[in-house]
Amino acid sequence: MPKEFTKIAELSELREGKGSVHRFEDDEIALVKLEGGVYAFMNICPHQHTPLVDKYGGQISGENLMCPMHGWTYHVKTGKCINESGKLKMLEVKVEDGAVFVRRGIKS
Ligand code: FES
Repeated sequence: MPKEFTKIAELSELREGKGSVHRFEDDEIALVKLEGGVYAFMNICPHQHTPLVDKYGGQISGENLMCPMHGWTYHVKTGKCINESGKLKMLEVKVEDGAVFVRRGIKS
């Protein structure tokens, strides 16, 4: 049985093309609002496990997010690394009545 969605933010808090950091259960996740969608992923670079998004919103250019440590770059919508072999752990997102909900375990 799929897990329930958890409200994580108000849509109005998110800025287009910027990441934001949120607590979800025991983890830190990042939300990125981009081109009409909202994307959620664990805020950990698969390379050496450092945060990808900080209070300044992360290094996002177009649809790509670059890790500030060594430059691995991820496609925000799919989580795929475009210059190495890693992949972000994505979460499923639902936007309803101006609120952003997430749940894990649906996308990998
Ligand atoms: S820790 Fe992210 S690229 Fe190395």
